[in-house]
Amino acid sequence: MAETRIPKKTPEMEEYEEETGKLAIWKGKVNKDFKKWQDKKKKEEIKKQKADILSYSRREKQELKKEMKEDKEVGKDYDHLIVAENLHKTYLLGTTAVAALRGVDLTIDKGDFVDIMGPSGSGKTTLLNLIGGLDTPTRGKIFLEGKNISMLNDNALAEIRRERIGFVFQFYNLLPQMTAIENIMVPLHFSGKLSRRGKRKKALDLLSLVGLEERAHHSPSELSGGEQQRVAIARAFANDPAICVLDEPTGDLDSKTGVMILNLLRDLNKRGATFIAVSHDAAVSEFATRVFHMRDGKLTHEGKVGGLKETEIMELKRKSEAEMNKEKSKSMIFKYLYANQGRSQIKINDIKDSIPKSIVLNLSEHFNDVLAELLEENQINGKLEGDSLILY
Ligand SMILES: Nc1ncnc2c1ncn2[C@@H]1O[C@H](COP(=O)(O)OP(=O)(O)O)[C@@H](O)[C@H]1O
Ligand SMILES: [Mg+2]
Repeated sequence: MAETRIPKKTPEMEEYEEETGKLAIWKGKVNKDFKKWQDKKKKEEIKKQKADILSYSRREKQELKKEMKEDKEVGKDYDHLIVAENLHKTYLLGTTAVAALRGVDLTIDKGDFVDIMGPSGSGKTTLLNLIGGLDTPTRGKIFLEGKNISMLNDNALAEIRRERIGFVFQFYNLLPQMTAIENIMVPLHFSGKLSRRGKRKKALDLLSLVGLEERAHHSPSELSGGEQQRVAIARAFANDPAICVLDEPTGDLDSKTGVMILNLLRDLNKRGATFIAVSHDAAVSEFATRVFHMRDGKLTHEGKVGGLKETEIMELKRKSEAEMNKEKSKSMIFKYLYANQGRSQIKINDIKDSIPKSIVLNLSEHFNDVLAELLEENQINGKLEGDSLILY
């Protein structure tokens, strides 16, 4: 079949013909003048977009400020921890406008573990930065605990980040010249609420929360990737944030270590922590309570889809593994107590240290709760007090 080389007329060509009175296709070829006209139009469009963004900030800033004041007065009376409404973010790169977010709506409640999956460049980091107050949207609003944070100035945003948000990044971002405990004390120092002693105690508690108290005085270079990420998670919780945002938290870890981190996150989530994670690692979605998909700056359906869904068999396997680990840790607790007969007070961490990490980090509940259960059932005679087990 002979191929026809005459270009087809596009709607844009029709517009050109109408506007200029010239033909877009002449003697079977696209008119050079049309191409020039097309470039001009493109430039005008970008200029319009730029002006739009700027005029938006001028024209509507005042109105938004007024609205925000009202939102502030509404105070703590809110339905959702986070409400994102029609979020748009356009970056200007020279003369090009990159629409990274194109109308995202999302609500997050306390206790959610939200995972947003999507290919590279789909806008995940941009969305996380807006929710975490690292950047502000071009259009749309974000409410955190009932307060509109989308138009706050830099200082007010910094305060929100410091007081209400915990951050975990792909490459841990620990300060290399400081030890694990010192890294965790940094945000405590900035919030200025605790004494030096109080800060140390809290930092140690946080380290024990992630099972790393024995690494307190190691510097990041002396820790493995998984350990560094656990320190970063402990640091994120230093100021009791309303939500912890995680950008590719397992992105730099091998899959086994990644799963350990995810187990820790799930454990913290079960104990009340709220997470929003973005990743292109499908494993994260197995641990989240809500999964969204992101594509070209838009959130598509919620839910665990296709091959990514945790099957019932996978879920059973995971649960039975965690349950088995719980039983294993119970018998190891007894073994430890038997070997330490006669003592009336034992540090919980000493007991915990006698059990392999692979078991402690993959329990169906927190280690302290396993101990508490044994006490409740009178299998051990005693009580928990602070970081110790008191035996009668
Ligand atoms: N600071 C920036 N300036 C210009 N373009 C950016 C900037 N940050 C991100 N982008 C662009 O926005 C789009 C979304 O990026 P990003 O949110 O980082 O996606 P993801 O995290 O899903 O990989 C990409 O096209 C990216 O190139
Ligand atoms: Mg990213």
